[in-house]
Amino acid sequence: MVALTAYSYPFARLIDEAGADIILVGDSLGMVEHGRPDTTEVTLEEMVFHTRSVRRGVSSALLVSDLPFGSYESPDQALLSAHTLKNAGADAIKLEGGTEKAEVAAALVSEGFELMGHLGMLPQKIREEGRYRIKGKTETEKLSLLSDALAIQEAGAFSVVLELVTPPVAAEITASLHIPTIGIGSGSACTGEILVTYDLIGLTPWFKPGFVQPLANTGELVRSCVQDFCQRVRSRKKIQ
Ligand code: KIV
Repeated sequence: MVALTAYSYPFARLIDEAGADIILVGDSLGMVEHGRPDTTEVTLEEMVFHTRSVRRGVSSALLVSDLPFGSYESPDQALLSAHTLKNAGADAIKLEGGTEKAEVAAALVSEGFELMGHLGMLPQKIREEGRYRIKGKTETEKLSLLSDALAIQEAGAFSVVLELVTPPVAAEITASLHIPTIGIGSGSACTGEILVTYDLIGLTPWFKPGFVQPLANTGELVRSCVQDFCQRVRSRKKIQ
């Protein structure tokens, strides 16, 4: 199961045509697309805007949109937010959290939403936790991740993202669930893999997560095309 993020029509279309199974309009867009320090200020309106653009580019993959921070504090609020994303074109929605979000998750599933969970390092909790760190290093953390994963599965999620979970714990969670796990920085035992597309293609050289080996240097390619164009225009060389 291959999943990648997209926030715009051209990226959605290219990723869909290249054969990804899932395209996520992730709230990572707050950081990589809007230049904010974290994802906590992303609004539902922004998610709607980007989901609409992505929808126009996707014809085969499953389009999943993130419920942004603060938009699913209660089952009623979550239902309203999820309907808003669905109307913008989402096939499924994703939320962060385990046991504490099980009631919200179950309410969404019983309303008919396809739900993806997200456990491990939770970007929406960054201000609470202070830093990004690998989860599952202690026995207590491992047990709590396992029970969170089971709670989200029990609530009816069709899959769960495991972000920055130690590879042995990600493997144990994967073996304990009957729904697929989709790993990011969590080793190779998960059922599928997800990446922020810009990390995969090296579009944002100022931010390089340690667990990704970019397959291209697109940021440098953009810079050099622009430099070439500047040089051609300034020296009045023909470009068409
Ligand atoms: O927002 C996002 O892009 C995500 C992925 C990194 C899993 O949640």
